[in-house]
Amino acid sequence: METVVSGIRPTGKLHLGNYFGAVSNFVRLQQEHNCYFFIADYHCLTTHPVHVDMQNNVKSILVEYLACGIDPDVSTLYVQSDVPEVAELYLLLNMNAYKGELERCTTFKEKIKKQKDNINAGLLTYPVLMASDILIHKATKVPVGHDQKQHLEMSRTFARRFNRLYNRDYFPEPHAFNFGNSLIRIPGLDGGGKMGKSEGANNAIYLSDTPEEISKKIMRAVTDSGPIEPNQKKPEAIQNLFSIMKAVSSSETLTYFDDLYSNCKIRYGDFKKQLADDIILFTSQLREKISEISDDEDYLKKVMKQGAEKAHQNAAKTIREVREIIGFRN
Ligand code: TYM
Repeated sequence: METVVSGIRPTGKLHLGNYFGAVSNFVRLQQEHNCYFFIADYHCLTTHPVHVDMQNNVKSILVEYLACGIDPDVSTLYVQSDVPEVAELYLLLNMNAYKGELERCTTFKEKIKKQKDNINAGLLTYPVLMASDILIHKATKVPVGHDQKQHLEMSRTFARRFNRLYNRDYFPEPHAFNFGNSLIRIPGLDGGGKMGKSEGANNAIYLSDTPEEISKKIMRAVTDSGPIEPNQKKPEAIQNLFSIMKAVSSSETLTYFDDLYSNCKIRYGDFKKQLADDIILFTSQLREKISEISDDEDYLKKVMKQGAEKAHQNAAKTIREVREIIGFRN
């Protein structure tokens, strides 16, 4: 049995990218491993220093985690800021994280272009906080989407560096994980880039979207005038819709439309209708559970309290050991 850690920032509702990149793996992993899943509210402050709707966003991710099948009696499900030991480990790891390597991080370079007026130290040290989330539970498996690959490399660097510096084999090396052959990247609906919460409302399909919203978004998704040569390479916008179909539809459906595309016989209207129907079918059960659970405030409070206690216990043990290794008085 290995230890698994993963988290999601509460910056909005869960979309298909979050689900296929991370959450579907959480649900499967909890059957075999010791799992810690959390809501990364500290991380939110790197991009949203004044978070207008933090409590509601935390609640909605919690509800969605539960609706997707995370069992709080099996996994440890908690809110990051309920476990302040994470912040202490972040402080300690920051002493051995170098400015140059943090500045070279791709997500940092992308983020500073988007928020030129707020290039804060938290943004620069985002990978250190993420490493603290993982190392505080000494996890080895980290289910995440493709965009988090570099952050995991950095977590391994910080773990190795700590071990070398204090001459102990203390932190294990964490690895990004997915049940398939490679990490997932679900594209957005606007023709380029990944599906994301900050890429505009029509770029992402949320698990809680109604059937009407799903149909509308898919029907509006960017396409072109159709293939002109047999077996031609699909342009990015079309390939993106096929990638979403691969995630939600049966392999027969995917092959059927792939063949039509290759023979230049595809009609995008039919293709999109099938895609929308399959997404609606896929999300319908989740949508029902989401609305069921979100009314049960007492249950949600109990889940958060229980998760905070379990996560805190394990995190406190790590911090005690780390303090001792570094040489603080206990
Ligand atoms: P966040 O909220 O940006 O993303 C949460 C998870 O969803 C995945 N994801 C995607 N996967 C595939 N295709 C997409 N279009 C897509 N969009 C998002 C992300 O890869 C991620 O797995 N830094 C993390 C939060 C975090 C964390 C951690 C994760 C904080 N500490 C420790 C693991 C371990 C993040 O990107 O959140």
